[in-house]
Order: sequence, then C-alpha cells, then structure tokens
Amino acid sequence: MNPENDPPSTASSNLFFAKFLANPRLVGAIAPSSRFLARKMLEGLDLNSGVRIVELGPGSGSFTNEIFHALPDDGQFLGIERERAFVEILRERFTRGDFVLDSAARIREIADKRGLLPVDHIISGLPFAGLPPRLTLEVLDGSGDVLRPGGTFSTFQYLHAYHFASARTFRIRMAERFGPIRRLCLEWRNLPPAYVFTWQKPMAAPRVGPRVSIESRRPQDMSLHDYLPQDRR
Ligand SMILES: C[S@@+](CC[C@H](N)C(=O)[O-])C[C@H]1O[C@@H](n2cnc3c(N)ncnc32)[C@H](O)[C@@H]1O
Repeated sequence: MNPENDPPSTASSNLFFAKFLANPRLVGAIAPSSRFLARKMLEGLDLNSGVRIVELGPGSGSFTNEIFHALPDDGQFLGIERERAFVEILRERFTRGDFVLDSAARIREIADKRGLLPVDHIISGLPFAGLPPRLTLEVLDGSGDVLRPGGTFSTFQYLHAYHFASARTFRIRMAERFGPIRRLCLEWRNLPPAYVFTWQKPMAAPRVGPRVSIESRRPQDMSLHDYLPQDRR
C-alpha cells in the first residue's frame, strides 16, 4: 500500500469538521480542500532535485498528498500544524514526511533546527482571514526570512471572501514583503471555489517601495490592480 496515494478517509474528514466546530477561526474550513485546489497550489513550481518545501497548516493532508506525488526522492519536506490530532493522522499517512506539532509563527526556528534553510517553496493552508493579525505578521516575516531569493509562497483565498477587509489586508501585507503577485488563478472545483496566489521572494528589495508607504494606504483604497504583476496590469 502506498499511503501517499490514499484519499482522505471519512474519519479524517469527520475529524476536520469536528475541529472546525471546536475552533472555526483557526481551522477556517468545514472540509479538507479538493485535490483540484491542491494541484493548483503546486502548478508551475519548480520541484527540482533537492527541493525544500515547508507546508503550513497541512490539516488532514490534502495539499501534502499532492506534494508527495511531485516531490523528488531527494526532496525535503517539513509540515507545521498546530492541531495534535491532525499531526497524528499526517504522520501515519505520509511516513516520508517530517511533521511538527507547533505554530507556523515559529517557522524560522523550526526550519533552522532541521537544517532546512534556505527553503525553496512554502505552501500555506493557514486560514489567514481568521488568524490574529500579529500571528499573521509573524508567519509572513518568518516566511520571508527562511525563503531563498526567488523562492515562492503560495496560499489560497475563497472566492466569496476575496473582497473581505481581512483578505485585502493580507494581500497588502504580502505585497509589502514580496512585491506583486506572480501567479493568480481561480479553482472552481473546490467547495467553496478559491483563488490560488503565488508570490516570489524578490532577488533584491521589493519593488513596491518602503513599507511605510503601503502601511499608510487603507485596504479599501487598494484595487486588484495593485496586487497584479506589473506586466499584467
Ligand atoms: C483551512 S485548514 C487547511 C487544511 C489543509 N491544508 C486543506 O487545505 O485541506 C487550516 C489548517 O491550519 C491549521 N493552523 C491554524 N493556525 C495554525 C498555526 N498558527 N500554525 C500551524 N497550523 C495552524 C489548522 O489547524 C488547520 O489544520
């Protein structure tokens, strides 16, 4: 049996729902993401020999499953998940993986301790819209520190929540650190449908200018235009 090929079991979907009921803001979804969304999260990423991937908030392993399909034999993987029950499922399901029961805010320390720096790609399933703003900033700053220049950060936002203030603020925080979005696409075959975003850590300083100029702009004053790569405006 190849556990990496297994679809999530009914038991793990039930657990997901139970965890959502217990803590809706931190779990952020009533069910695991679809395999279509999982594939979109990985599309276009360079998964060459020796690639290093960190997954934040893997839950019951929807994205992890696709990562392990694509990960080369000498690739390295680290998953950081704050729910003990999910970590137990992940360790059983993906025996090749290194799963840590901790907060994604500690990505810097955790990746460093494992000799995983610099990281090539971060795949995030974290429900940023529901996380405390300080925690989000810690995750984003830590992610910026561990990624190599040119490394990527991918995440998703549900279609219906795209214009929520928290979603817009998150994109602004990303633009401050990583510059314009590199890739934006919509996956309809997910419940609910979701946008997938990929940012790339700049080779030099971000093109968006000093932090203060963007901090001073309110989310409601920004448009999608502000987040698109310059060649797609
Ligand atoms: C929306 S679920 C996504 C799960 C999975 N990636 C998927 O798409 O099906 C969010 C996950 O992030 C985890 N999470 C929330 N806050 C976290 C944190 N600070 N550090 C690590 N994981 C966290 C939750 O426990 C949950 O498993």
